[in-house]
Amino acid sequence: MTTFKLNGRDVTIDAEDDTPLLWVIRDEANLTGTKYGCGIGQCGACTIHINGEARRSCITPLAAAEGAEITTIEGLDPAGEHPVQKAWQNLQVPQCGYCQSGQIMTAAAALKQNPDMSDDDIDAIMTGNLCRCMTYNRIRAAVREAANTMREG
Ligand code: FES
Ligand code: FES
Repeated sequence: MTTFKLNGRDVTIDAEDDTPLLWVIRDEANLTGTKYGCGIGQCGACTIHINGEARRSCITPLAAAEGAEITTIEGLDPAGEHPVQKAWQNLQVPQCGYCQSGQIMTAAAALKQNPDMSDDDIDAIMTGNLCRCMTYNRIRAAVREAANTMREG
């Protein structure tokens, strides 16, 4: 049994310790906003927050969640109005959308730690999140817009 907080709610999961957290989130908790892309930590589609830090849930074992606070895209903001989500909407970032929750979770964790990121910082942070629809220019612009909002807020 592994117990942790998932989007603010206590959950207890009965599964093997080495079960990827991605499967727990999608199949046990039925939160399907977190996506399966590569399964080997290379694409970022499965990015979640563990104790506020961006992590790839496909290569994170369930055991690593014990006692942690885990946030998925569904829990980032109760109304879906996190500054990063609003910037994504304003700039109409997604194309197919598959990679986008991972992109948003990576950006949100980085901006919480440092809303003063330079363009180079943004590129360095986001480079590990792949987008086969090539929305990179809009992603960069949206991270900039969210950074401005978070600095002012
Ligand atoms: S599915 Fe986890 S990094 Fe690609
Ligand atoms: S929007 Fe299609 S993979 Fe990124």
